[in-house]
Amino acid sequence: MKDIVVKLLPEVLEIQDKTLQEQVIDCWVDAISFRGWTEELLRSIPFTLLAENVKITFIDHVRAVCRMCMAVDDVLIDIHGNRRTPVNRDYLIAGALLADVGKLLEFEIVDGKPQKSNYGKHIRHPFSGVGLAFKHDLPSEVMHVIATHSKEGAGEKRSPESIIFHHCDFIDFDLVK
Ligand SMILES: [Fe+2]
Repeated sequence: MKDIVVKLLPEVLEIQDKTLQEQVIDCWVDAISFRGWTEELLRSIPFTLLAENVKITFIDHVRAVCRMCMAVDDVLIDIHGNRRTPVNRDYLIAGALLADVGKLLEFEIVDGKPQKSNYGKHIRHPFSGVGLAFKHDLPSEVMHVIATHSKEGAGEKRSPESIIFHHCDFIDFDLVK
């Protein structure tokens, strides 16, 4: 199943630390197995279930935001160089790819379609995402990005990686909304 994750999210190969890359893939494999998602079903999940006729998919949202994060990091390196606030690019990519992995638990498959589950009403994806990341021994810096990326992180002091992810995430979200 690891090959499906790499096919769906080729950006995972941008993670330089091989252990971290494997841990990110393992979280996705675990989340895919939990409800028995297939590649086809995964590709059919809309970005949000809150609005009708959303053409942008969940997987493309994850990929787009991850790419935006890398692009932001590139610009900061190019322009600010050594004066910039240090960003751990591997943690940024890992966090970007795992921030929404918990949605695969939040949603369930009913009559072949993704739907918000009762589980998801109780445990939003930042929590299930951190649970998965903890299980697979991800660094706390990456768990921090998952934990603080959404409204749950409002009022928290976000790390540089979390600040970049949070803003990129909301660019995509606000434009689709
Ligand atoms: Fe999210």
